[in-house]
Amino acid sequence: MEIKRFVCGDIEENCYILYEEGSECFIIDPGEGAGRICRFMKEHDLQPKAVLLTHHHHDHISAIGGILKEYDIPVYIHEAEQWRLPLSTEGMKDGDVFELGDCSLTVVHTPGHSEGSVCFLCPEMNIAFTGDCVFSDEIGYTIFDGGSKWAMIDSIGGIIDKWDDSVVLYPGHFGTADMAYVRENNTDYRKAMKRYMERQK
Ligand SMILES: [Fe+2]
Repeated sequence: MEIKRFVCGDIEENCYILYEEGSECFIIDPGEGAGRICRFMKEHDLQPKAVLLTHHHHDHISAIGGILKEYDIPVYIHEAEQWRLPLSTEGMKDGDVFELGDCSLTVVHTPGHSEGSVCFLCPEMNIAFTGDCVFSDEIGYTIFDGGSKWAMIDSIGGIIDKWDDSVVLYPGHFGTADMAYVRENNTDYRKAMKRYMERQK
Protein backbone atom coordinates (compact mmCIF):
# COMPACT_ATOMS: atom_id res chain seq x y z
CA MET A 1 0.00 0.00 0.00
CA GLU A 2 1.28 3.45 -0.88
CA ILE A 3 0.43 7.00 0.08
CA LYS A 4 0.53 9.98 -2.27
CA ARG A 5 0.30 13.46 -0.79
CA PHE A 6 -0.94 16.48 -2.70
CA VAL A 7 -0.45 19.89 -1.10
CA CYS A 8 -3.55 21.88 -2.01
CA GLY A 9 -4.19 25.60 -2.32
CA ASP A 10 -2.88 28.67 -0.48
CA ILE A 11 -3.59 27.10 2.92
CA GLU A 12 -1.45 24.12 1.90
CA GLU A 13 -3.89 21.45 2.90
CA ASN A 14 -2.79 17.83 2.53
CA CYS A 15 -4.87 15.55 0.33
CA TYR A 16 -3.81 11.91 0.57
CA ILE A 17 -4.42 9.03 -1.78
CA LEU A 18 -4.07 5.64 -0.15
CA TYR A 19 -3.58 3.21 -3.00
CA GLU A 20 -2.26 -0.02 -4.37
CA GLU A 21 -0.75 0.41 -7.84
CA GLY A 22 -3.20 -0.73 -10.51
CA SER A 23 -5.94 -1.37 -7.98
CA GLU A 24 -8.28 0.57 -5.71
CA CYS A 25 -7.75 3.71 -3.63
CA PHE A 26 -9.30 6.08 -1.15
CA ILE A 27 -9.06 9.83 -1.56
CA ILE A 28 -8.76 11.60 1.77
CA ASP A 29 -9.57 15.33 2.05
CA PRO A 30 -9.33 16.50 -1.56
CA GLY A 31 -8.61 20.23 -1.35
CA GLU A 32 -7.93 22.18 -4.53
CA GLY A 33 -6.75 20.50 -7.71
CA ALA A 34 -9.21 17.87 -8.91
CA GLY A 35 -7.38 17.75 -12.27
CA ARG A 36 -4.08 16.55 -10.92
CA ILE A 37 -5.76 14.15 -8.46
CA CYS A 38 -7.74 12.54 -11.29
CA ARG A 39 -4.65 12.50 -13.50
CA PHE A 40 -2.70 10.67 -10.80
CA MET A 41 -5.42 8.03 -10.53
CA LYS A 42 -5.39 7.48 -14.29
CA GLU A 43 -1.59 7.33 -14.44
CA HIS A 44 -1.53 4.71 -11.69
CA ASP A 45 -4.56 2.85 -13.00
CA LEU A 46 -6.51 3.41 -9.80
CA GLN A 47 -10.20 2.91 -9.15
CA PRO A 48 -11.26 5.19 -6.29
CA LYS A 49 -13.64 3.54 -3.82
CA ALA A 50 -14.68 6.68 -1.96
CA VAL A 51 -13.76 10.16 -0.80
CA LEU A 52 -13.17 10.13 2.96
CA LEU A 53 -13.33 13.44 4.82
CA THR A 54 -11.76 14.19 8.18
CA HIS A 55 -14.10 17.21 8.48
CA HIS A 56 -16.11 19.67 6.43
CA HIS A 57 -13.83 22.74 6.14
CA HIS A 58 -13.57 24.18 2.64
CA ASP A 59 -9.82 23.68 2.29
CA HIS A 60 -10.37 19.91 2.64
CA ILE A 61 -13.24 19.51 0.19
CA SER A 62 -12.88 21.93 -2.73
CA ALA A 63 -11.84 19.31 -5.27
CA ILE A 64 -14.76 16.97 -4.57
CA GLY A 65 -16.98 18.43 -7.33
CA GLY A 66 -14.31 17.89 -9.97
CA ILE A 67 -13.61 14.34 -8.78
CA LEU A 68 -17.30 13.41 -8.82
CA LYS A 69 -17.54 14.54 -12.45
CA GLU A 70 -15.01 11.83 -13.31
CA TYR A 71 -15.92 9.14 -10.80
CA ASP A 72 -19.28 8.12 -9.39
CA ILE A 73 -18.17 7.38 -5.84
CA PRO A 74 -19.58 8.07 -2.37
CA VAL A 75 -18.32 10.87 -0.12
CA TYR A 76 -18.13 9.94 3.56
CA ILE A 77 -18.16 12.42 6.42
CA HIS A 78 -19.00 12.01 10.10
CA GLU A 79 -22.76 11.99 10.55
CA ALA A 80 -22.59 15.06 12.82
CA GLU A 81 -21.40 17.17 9.88
CA GLN A 82 -23.41 15.86 6.96
CA TRP A 83 -25.77 18.81 7.22
CA ARG A 84 -22.90 21.23 6.68
CA LEU A 85 -22.12 20.12 3.13
CA PRO A 86 -24.24 21.13 0.13
CA LEU A 87 -23.75 17.75 -1.52
CA SER A 88 -25.01 14.26 -1.05
CA THR A 89 -22.86 12.38 1.47
CA GLU A 90 -22.79 9.11 3.37
CA GLY A 91 -22.59 9.36 7.15
CA MET A 92 -19.93 7.56 9.13
CA LYS A 93 -19.41 7.16 12.84
CA ASP A 94 -16.79 6.11 15.35
CA GLY A 95 -15.67 2.52 14.79
CA ASP A 96 -16.72 2.25 11.15
CA VAL A 97 -14.12 0.45 9.04
CA PHE A 98 -13.16 0.97 5.40
CA GLU A 99 -11.32 -1.91 3.77
CA LEU A 100 -8.72 -1.48 1.04
CA GLY A 101 -6.75 -4.56 -0.01
CA ASP A 102 -4.87 -5.82 3.01
CA CYS A 103 -5.43 -2.58 4.89
CA SER A 104 -8.27 -1.10 6.86
CA LEU A 105 -9.08 2.41 7.98
CA THR A 106 -10.97 2.72 11.23
CA VAL A 107 -12.93 5.88 11.88
CA VAL A 108 -11.95 7.48 15.18
CA HIS A 109 -14.23 10.33 16.22
CA THR A 110 -12.01 13.12 17.58
CA PRO A 111 -14.16 16.25 17.95
CA GLY A 112 -12.61 19.58 18.86
CA HIS A 113 -11.54 21.25 15.63
CA SER A 114 -15.14 20.64 14.55
CA GLU A 115 -17.95 18.53 15.98
CA GLY A 116 -17.52 15.74 13.47
CA SER A 117 -13.75 15.72 13.07
CA VAL A 118 -12.36 12.22 12.68
CA CYS A 119 -9.03 10.49 12.31
CA PHE A 120 -8.56 7.39 10.16
CA LEU A 121 -6.40 4.81 11.85
CA CYS A 122 -4.68 2.10 9.78
CA PRO A 123 -3.31 -0.55 12.16
CA GLU A 124 -1.70 -2.60 9.38
CA MET A 125 0.52 0.33 8.36
CA ASN A 126 0.74 1.79 11.87
CA ILE A 127 -0.38 5.19 10.60
CA ALA A 128 -3.21 7.63 11.22
CA PHE A 129 -4.66 10.37 9.04
CA THR A 130 -5.41 13.04 11.61
CA GLY A 131 -7.00 15.87 9.63
CA ASP A 132 -6.83 19.12 11.59
CA CYS A 133 -6.84 17.48 15.02
CA VAL A 134 -3.12 16.99 15.59
CA PHE A 135 -0.29 18.25 13.38
CA SER A 136 3.41 17.56 13.88
CA ASP A 137 4.09 20.71 15.90
CA GLU A 138 0.64 22.17 16.62
CA ILE A 139 -2.94 21.15 17.17
CA GLY A 140 -5.93 22.37 15.17
CA TYR A 141 -7.81 25.56 15.96
CA THR A 142 -10.97 25.22 18.00
CA ILE A 143 -12.32 28.71 17.32
CA PHE A 144 -14.49 27.85 14.34
CA ASP A 145 -18.21 27.06 14.35
CA GLY A 146 -18.59 23.57 15.81
CA GLY A 147 -15.16 23.69 17.44
CA SER A 148 -14.60 23.12 21.15
CA LYS A 149 -11.43 23.51 23.16
CA TRP A 150 -12.55 21.00 25.78
CA ALA A 151 -13.64 18.46 23.20
CA MET A 152 -10.18 18.79 21.65
CA ILE A 153 -8.51 18.24 25.01
CA ASP A 154 -10.63 15.14 25.59
CA SER A 155 -9.92 13.84 22.08
CA ILE A 156 -6.19 14.24 22.59
CA GLY A 157 -6.00 12.97 26.16
CA GLY A 158 -8.68 10.29 25.94
CA ILE A 159 -8.07 8.93 22.46
CA ILE A 160 -4.99 10.05 20.57
CA ASP A 161 -2.63 9.79 23.51
CA LYS A 162 -3.46 6.07 23.71
CA TRP A 163 -1.63 5.58 20.42
CA ASP A 164 1.84 4.08 20.50
CA ASP A 165 4.97 6.22 20.01
CA SER A 166 5.59 4.49 16.68
CA VAL A 167 2.29 5.50 15.04
CA VAL A 168 3.03 7.90 12.17
CA LEU A 169 0.62 10.77 11.73
CA TYR A 170 -0.43 12.09 8.31
CA PRO A 171 -2.07 15.38 9.22
CA GLY A 172 -4.23 17.79 7.24
CA HIS A 173 -1.45 20.38 7.14
CA PHE A 174 2.36 20.26 7.40
CA GLY A 175 4.47 17.10 7.30
CA THR A 176 4.31 13.71 8.92
CA ALA A 177 5.58 12.92 12.41
CA ASP A 178 5.38 9.96 14.72
CA MET A 179 3.68 10.06 18.11
CA ALA A 180 7.05 10.03 19.88
CA TYR A 181 7.96 13.30 18.12
CA VAL A 182 4.56 14.81 18.90
CA ARG A 183 4.75 13.88 22.59
CA GLU A 184 8.24 15.35 22.83
CA ASN A 185 8.03 18.47 20.67
CA ASN A 186 4.44 19.56 20.06
CA THR A 187 3.88 22.34 22.61
CA ASP A 188 0.13 22.59 21.96
CA TYR A 189 -0.23 18.84 22.40
CA ARG A 190 1.72 18.92 25.66
CA LYS A 191 -0.44 21.77 26.96
CA ALA A 192 -3.60 19.88 26.02
CA MET A 193 -2.30 16.80 27.83
CA LYS A 194 -1.54 18.86 30.93
CA ARG A 195 -5.08 20.23 30.92
CA TYR A 196 -6.47 16.75 30.37
CA MET A 197 -4.49 15.30 33.28
CA GLU A 198 -5.59 18.14 35.56
CA ARG A 199 -9.21 17.37 34.74
CA GLN A 200 -8.76 13.70 35.63
CA LYS A 201 -7.78 14.53 39.22
FE1 LIG B 1 -10.05 22.53 9.24
